[in-house]
Amino acid sequence: MSILNQSEPFTLVLFGATGDLAKRKLFPAIYNLYLSNLLPDQFTVIGASRTPRTNDQFREAVHNSIQEFSRNKIHDEKKFAHFLESFFYSSTDINDVATYQEILSICNDREPKDIPANRLFYLSVGPELFGRVATNLNQTGLTNTTGWKRLIIEKPFGYNYDSAQELNVEIKKTFTEEETYRIDHYLGKEMVQNIEVIRFANAFLEPLWNHQYIENIQISASETVGVEERSGYYDEAGALRDMVQNHMLQLLMMVAMEPPSRFDETSIHEEKTKVLRAIRRVPKEQMAEYVVRGQYGEGKIKGKSLPAYRQEKNIPESSTTETYVALKFMIDNHRWAGVPFYIRTGKRMPMKATEIVVQFKELPQNLYSRDTKGLGPNLLVIRINPNEGVHLFMNTKRPGTFQQMKPVTLHYQDESNEIPEAYESLIQDAIVGDRTFFTHQDEVSHAWEITDPIYEAFQENIVSLSSYPSGSWGPVAADQLLASQEDHWWAVGDLEMQLKAIYDHEKEKEGIVK
Ligand code: BG6
Repeated sequence: MSILNQSEPFTLVLFGATGDLAKRKLFPAIYNLYLSNLLPDQFTVIGASRTPRTNDQFREAVHNSIQEFSRNKIHDEKKFAHFLESFFYSSTDINDVATYQEILSICNDREPKDIPANRLFYLSVGPELFGRVATNLNQTGLTNTTGWKRLIIEKPFGYNYDSAQELNVEIKKTFTEEETYRIDHYLGKEMVQNIEVIRFANAFLEPLWNHQYIENIQISASETVGVEERSGYYDEAGALRDMVQNHMLQLLMMVAMEPPSRFDETSIHEEKTKVLRAIRRVPKEQMAEYVVRGQYGEGKIKGKSLPAYRQEKNIPESSTTETYVALKFMIDNHRWAGVPFYIRTGKRMPMKATEIVVQFKELPQNLYSRDTKGLGPNLLVIRINPNEGVHLFMNTKRPGTFQQMKPVTLHYQDESNEIPEAYESLIQDAIVGDRTFFTHQDEVSHAWEITDPIYEAFQENIVSLSSYPSGSWGPVAADQLLASQEDHWWAVGDLEMQLKAIYDHEKEKEGIVK
């Protein structure tokens, strides 16, 4: 999150202002920025949507959304009333350029005359509308500002390489690449931004961060939810395009990139893009050695019976869309030669968690046990959610004995309620013009180059679709993907228990612990 130049007023025009994202994330984010004194004294939010609403009705909706979803609730009604005075509504038909006039006149009324007028356009609408909105903004003169103009868009940025290119061409007619802020909300998460600091501000880690000391890296994002109300989008997209093409590859880039020469946007992006370029391109015929896909069947989570994906509302009974995917990526560069990066993400899993586990190599010779597997490997765990934190697993001596080991964990976890939500950081960065944690066009393109052949292998059934029960950790084939390299998945969220179990089991085998 960047420090805001508080003197710079701006207008945020939000398309899709009556939608779910605005309600759950965007209004609370703006409110929390306001509470943290991170907004300038003069700012305006114009909600634009087709639904007719008065300013008062819109303000009431903003009030309700903040009461329900904000991490900070409303305690000072007077202050909150002042905050709401900056919110306006304009009923806008995205396809009808004439209806944009009202937005323009609100801008003109509200913007101070003696300083440059800055405008931020947030498109929380379907990607098929991005080009149309950009053109209409241009035609109305809304993008003809005396200050800066910026565009924020949400994924999906196309559905494959070609469509992403077309989308860029369309947007570039009105906004330059430097004015385009593509949100990947994972990049706004506190622990994701912390990856850089953990890596580059700790002298003991960076020398070990390579193929000589690291056995494998695992990135898992599990969700308990199913397809919910998004059947139309999700059944087209699937887990690969919904999660891997963007969020999971972004996490991989943050973990694998070289230290940038400077901590500026350009240097960081250059290094991230190099990672994508170095990811091994696997011919689709060999894809089954690298990828597993699954779809949830019936099952239970926390005792609640759940339907199979194909029984969900508006999902065709014959759908072959994957709700789970596990992949092995190889990064063919000097640092990562031979180190598998295992990625997995799925819906209807036992818990909601996102986690990165760095597994270090075993010691060349273990002095403490005849069976080197008796001790757990060192692990560095970066927990992105829930319970953001960093955990380092080490082996120590069991008190009072010499031959017996005990795995211990060094923890860092922020217990406060002060952690900003991803959208707070990202909206603030867009206001100050910092694109470090936004996705650049070349990242989008390379990411599609990586996922397009995988998608084709799905379509052609080169990678077959397995079923997994709701409430399980995915198809058995995902375990085999790692077993073929003599690796295994580390338990998400419950690593301490898993290590202890391995440790006790090995000790029992040796007759040390009864
Ligand atoms: C979105 C995906 O981008 O990320 C959703 O479209 C997914 O399918 C969500 O549920 C997960 O985000 P988070 O922040 O809850 O991990």
